[in-house]
Formats: sequence, structure tokens, C-alpha cells
Amino acid sequence: MEKYMKRESIGVLVSGAGSNLSAMIEAGLSIAVVVADRECDARWVAMEADIPFRVVRWEEYKDARDMSAARNLFTQQIVREMRRHEVTLVAMAGFMRILSWHMFEAYPQRVLNVHPSLLPLFPGAHAVCDALAAGALETGCTVHIATEKVDDDQYILAQQRLPVFPHDTEASLHTRIKAIEHRIYPTAIKEYMDQLKNRVPI
Ligand code: GRF
Repeated sequence: MEKYMKRESIGVLVSGAGSNLSAMIEAGLSIAVVVADRECDARWVAMEADIPFRVVRWEEYKDARDMSAARNLFTQQIVREMRRHEVTLVAMAGFMRILSWHMFEAYPQRVLNVHPSLLPLFPGAHAVCDALAAGALETGCTVHIATEKVDDDQYILAQQRLPVFPHDTEASLHTRIKAIEHRIYPTAIKEYMDQLKNRVPI
């Protein structure tokens, strides 16, 4: 566990409950800062673990000239927060905003995401609902390297499938998916950090 703490410093991006954040903390990952786009329950998870929590409020950017300008300014502010906390790896954990190229330029191949479907199936913000609506007999979750393309399936680090039951609701299915995410995301992050050890540091 020690070696991860010394070599990489993780910045986690959240928008919601923070259960994946909690799983990362329990797995002993070294988290320098948690950044949210809104007030959310993940704040309390971070607070309890004594991790700085910052809100870069999307609402304050969304009235910029256009969506692209808003996204650029918003992302640049998040990058500033990451740098201020000397983050070397960014982990999105239920972050419900699209980031601009600034993030991927600042952290090339160093932004990870967990998504509640078997990518490339059901990308987007309603993956669990979409799987149910499509009558999928199985779904799952994916850990991947994030790029400017939302829910990019080009670099998949881990994936696990699970059955969809006939009586499943969005909530029941998402709960089972999250239970898997909590296992595979921290493990995939650790494995990826091991791979990064052999690369030139950013
Ligand atoms: C997770 O299912 C994640 O895959 C999705 O949003 C959810 C976040 O849950 N992108 P939590 O905030 O970690 O509990």
C-alpha cells in the first residue's frame, strides 16, 4: 500500500453520493483532493477522511458565451485545483460533467473513469436506465482511460458483467453495479499506477 502513497497523488472528481470515493479511501489510495461540480454528499465522505473538498460550481460557468467556452473555463479551474494539490492522476467517480481538452492535455493518459455499463454499450448519463429500456439480459461496469470522447471505450482497464433480473428497477440494478464498481475501480487504479511507474513522470 505504501508505494502507491508515495508515487501517485490522486484527485477525485465527483457529483453525487461518493460511494466510489469511499471505496477508494478504504482501499488505501492516496487522495490529495476531491473536486465536485456542485454541493453533494461526497463532501461528507471526503470530510470524514480528512481530504480537502473543493466545489467548482458548473452553475457559475454555464452562462459563458457558449457551451464550449463554459466547458473550457470550468475545466481550467478544475485543472488549477488539481495542480494546487499536486495531483498526478485524476479519477472521475460519478462526475456528471463533460471536461474540455484542457484536462486531457494537463493529465495525458492520466484521467480514469468508471461507467455503469459494459462500454461501448450504453454510454452517456443514463446507462443503467438505457440498459433496462433496451431489455438487456446483462450489463456491468467499465473502468477506462477517459479522453475528450465521452465514455471512450478505446482504453478499457477493467470490466465486469452482471445479469439483469426481470424484476430489476433502475435503483436495484444500479445498486448491484455499484457494488462491483467498488471492487474493480480501486484495483484497476492500483494496477494502472503500477504501469505508470515505468513511464516518464508528467
Ligand atoms: C457510479 O455508478 C458511476 O459509475 C457513475 O455514477 C455513479 C456514481 O456513484 N458514473 P457514487 O457517487 O460513486 O456513489
